[in-house]
Amino acid sequence: MAYSFMEEEARPVQKITERRRQREPLLANRVQRQSRPSLVRAYAWRALQGAARTLPPEELGLTRLELTLPHLPRHLDGLTMLHVTDLHLTGEADHPARGVPDLLKGVQCDLTVYTGDMVEDEAGREALPPLLHALRPREAAFAVLGNHDHYRYRHESGEGPRQNDLGPLLHAMETAGIEILVNTNRRLYNGALCVVGVDDPALGRDDLDRAFVGVGPAEATLLLAHSPDVLVRLGDHHPGLLLAGHTHGGQLRLPGLGPIGSISVLPRRYAMGLYVYEGVQTYVSRGIGTSGARARLNCPPEVTVITLRSSRVVSVVA
Ligand SMILES: [Fe+2]
Repeated sequence: MAYSFMEEEARPVQKITERRRQREPLLANRVQRQSRPSLVRAYAWRALQGAARTLPPEELGLTRLELTLPHLPRHLDGLTMLHVTDLHLTGEADHPARGVPDLLKGVQCDLTVYTGDMVEDEAGREALPPLLHALRPREAAFAVLGNHDHYRYRHESGEGPRQNDLGPLLHAMETAGIEILVNTNRRLYNGALCVVGVDDPALGRDDLDRAFVGVGPAEATLLLAHSPDVLVRLGDHHPGLLLAGHTHGGQLRLPGLGPIGSISVLPRRYAMGLYVYEGVQTYVSRGIGTSGARARLNCPPEVTVITLRSSRVVSVVA
């Protein structure tokens, strides 16, 4: 896979920060444009959704990444991390998240990170603990929350979104040894790795300045956020790697054209995968579950195992 991180990394940080500031008004316009979805896209979405439902469900896959985390000390070279996002777990017996333990049989990682949208309903929350237990890492597990953790969008009664009682979900996650990062950071391995987590950017709950308190520019820093939208608000903060989800890769993708829509302020081409945005190495996972259209097309669900390197290596094995 062609990858330009090394070129981007060579650019002075100051220049990148300046460019981010210049782009802010353009991004504000894009947000306004996205609030008026085109009729053509809405029809295309419905047509593709109908087509996807006639096909067998797309198979859950394991994506392996090997990439450099700037400032990672040599003794942490080879650190492994499991990235799980957008489970949208329900009580359905054939939910793709139920295949994760089998897919990861024999794979044990040093860290597990979750980037939100854990459950879709109460039955999903009850099914969550054994799954979390199966994904326990050697060292530590962290999570950030997504919009579906804060709100319940799907109601049998047809009502609009309703704020969730987060208590039972947080309890289930904390019982499984997962620390939930709400606009804060933690250091691991005697301070050699810093994990920063923000609350959901899609709902505007992220507070980057608070999350990055005490984090220096020369630290190996991993940023966890539910949505890649956080990229447009980073300002002076420069994480070595952002892990995110939320977009589900667009869910319905046309071959050669990509997604017909993406729930992000970023251009549609940034709806999934490994890229560098304004100097920030980013991986946006397609996630596991679905929302809105309960179907996927050319966009299979995934979990990701990332091997972090202290020297410059980048490779992707899907
Ligand atoms: Fe999601």
